Amino acid sequence: MKTILITGATSGIGKSTAELLAKQGNRIIICGRRTEILESVQSELSKFTEVFSLNFDVRNLQEVETAIASLPENWKSVDVLINNAGNAHGLDPLSAGKTDDWDSMIDGNVKGLLYVSKMIIPGMKERKSGHVVNISSVAARQTYANGIVYCATKKAVDVISEGMRIELTEFGIKVTNIQPGAVETDFSMVRFKGDSERAATVYEGYEPLRAEDIADSIAYCVNAPKHVCISDMTIYPTAQAEPRTIYRK
Ligand SMILES: NC(=O)c1ccc[n+]([C@@H]2O[C@H](COP(=O)([O-])OP(=O)(O)OC[C@H]3O[C@@H](n4cnc5c(N)ncnc54)[C@H](OP(=O)(O)O)[C@@H]3O)[C@@H](O)[C@H]2O)c1
Repeated sequence: MKTILITGATSGIGKSTAELLAKQGNRIIICGRRTEILESVQSELSKFTEVFSLNFDVRNLQEVETAIASLPENWKSVDVLINNAGNAHGLDPLSAGKTDDWDSMIDGNVKGLLYVSKMIIPGMKERKSGHVVNISSVAARQTYANGIVYCATKKAVDVISEGMRIELTEFGIKVTNIQPGAVETDFSMVRFKGDSERAATVYEGYEPLRAEDIADSIAYCVNAPKHVCISDMTIYPTAQAEPRTIYRK
């Protein structure tokens, strides 16, 4: 049984991953900003395992530090950190991009991941064991028009994963970088600021991945034997060839 901290566990990939890993008998720390959803996820998962919830915005260093420092003693030894919190905001050419959107993506997808990692990794180093799973995207493999800043943040996640692996291997800590293709979650609703019709068009005419598919992939990496580190995993829906090319009926 592992103690697993998952950021962004109130929705989509993070929530499905929390559910699957809870059902597999791990102790789960769920994190997110939406308190009511955190409470309902906690009560749902508590049917299967011990669950602790932390409410913080990954973009706010002080909130991250306070929340993680508040973990009770018996929850402090995190075996697996899943850095999943993140979103795309907007789909605009750089020349027309909204700087608030850029700040949200850079602060959330990159700095937030670093803040949480900085709090959790020292304990893993002391214990000489642990596993960091970073959720990147296929957007890191192929930049697409109107998504430059989101792609850049996910490229940064790839680089951070690579660097973490170089720094942490000597401590017996695994680092896994996951690149999902199109997954139908609240991702597009957030990107298009609640425009549900526009969000739905992203998934029209083909079968996208489900959050559960990525949860399965993450669980495969987390459950690999101690001597096996899945360093990188890219998962596309069958209809998607690369970020910009999706075969729709
Ligand atoms: N869906 C896709 O097609 C796709 C493809 C590739 C990669 N990804 C990546 O997968 C990850 C999860 O996305 P998803 O598709 O599951 O989207 P989602 O359903 O919108 O979930 C995003 C999660 O991140 C949390 N979050 C966002 N900003 C946060 C912040 N500032 N502080 C704390 N938590 C924050 C949200 O929780 P709260 O709102 O409660 O804080 C929510 O739980 C993201 O890193 C995304 O970039 C998604």
